[in-house]
Amino acid sequence: MSATIKRLLISDRDDIMEISRHIWDGHDYLPSVADEWLNDPNCHFYGSEMNGHVVAVGNLRLVENGQTGWMEGLRVHPDYRGKGLAKELTRYLVEKAESFGLQRLRYTTANRNSASLKLAKMAGFSRVFTLAVFWHLNPKTVPHSEDYPSIRKVSPARTHNLLQTNPSIVFHEILVYDWKALDNTLQNLEEIGKTHKFYIATKKGKADSLSFGYPRRESTQAWWSTTVYATDLEGLASQLAHNQVVASKQGIKSIVCTFETKFEKALRASVGWETGEHWGIRLVLLEKRMRS
Ligand SMILES: CC(C)(COP(=O)(O)OP(=O)(O)OC[C@H]1O[C@@H](n2cnc3c(N)ncnc32)[C@H](O)[C@@H]1OP(=O)(O)O)[C@@H](O)C(=O)NCCC(=O)NCCS
Repeated sequence: MSATIKRLLISDRDDIMEISRHIWDGHDYLPSVADEWLNDPNCHFYGSEMNGHVVAVGNLRLVENGQTGWMEGLRVHPDYRGKGLAKELTRYLVEKAESFGLQRLRYTTANRNSASLKLAKMAGFSRVFTLAVFWHLNPKTVPHSEDYPSIRKVSPARTHNLLQTNPSIVFHEILVYDWKALDNTLQNLEEIGKTHKFYIATKKGKADSLSFGYPRRESTQAWWSTTVYATDLEGLASQLAHNQVVASKQGIKSIVCTFETKFEKALRASVGWETGEHWGIRLVLLEKRMRS
């Protein structure tokens, strides 16, 4: 059996939804972005067709003024897995990126996703870093530290200025949000600011912690999705508590949070949640530098 790779069209929508229905017990985000990917000129949304149906998809999105290719949404219908379709589509998207003269390609995946990591190796990607992710459906409120400076909502431009005082709090100078990643620049902060709100705390005029979050709405429920950067555990826990307050004002209890792995053990011990939480998930950022 051989597949034909083609640019996806609105008329492929039903096949895309059929693939997505089987992904992560129906919790896939693809249905919420597929129309955008089909229409956005920066998106190169491709699929593999077999037996008259699209059975695998993957998107290459041009970001950072067209210098970076962001790879996302790689999915193969369960009936067609293990046949090399993901490998073929990945190779195809990498060749596309080469033909566009991009400087680099990036994507994130979970450390548990062996197939995705194998694909990265096959296509010449390297690990940039790993971050921790936890989620909780209904966490108890994290106690506020009375001594911690106040956390303020700030604009992307103000965030950029404040980060100049302590750029190292952003791990590797790369902003990770909702399993996506952009370099820490004003332009990218403004891009993230289209959906997320930024919260920052300073100590002696220096940025001490930063978070940015937004309400991620899935078909069955909403999550407050946040990334937290901090110099220490106190800053991390305070930002988390702040995000819980912001989320609960919007009627959202469930939270998903990305943060540095070095804090995971201590954070887990300090929040003391007993049930319903998921820890130990790792987000891996992968990158391929292109010739040029
Ligand atoms: C991940 C996914 C895209 C792989 O699709 P696929 O067409 O079955 O993959 P391929 O047949 O091209 O295999 C690619 C490599 O992964 C390996 N692989 C495939 N499924 C695997 C699995 N479940 N566990 C471990 N390795 C696996 C293959 O052996 C192959 O490696 P090899 O060349 O060293 O043998 C598919 O399982 C899927 O849609 N999963 C759900 C969504 C997802 O996780 N997307 C990717 C990250 S966002």
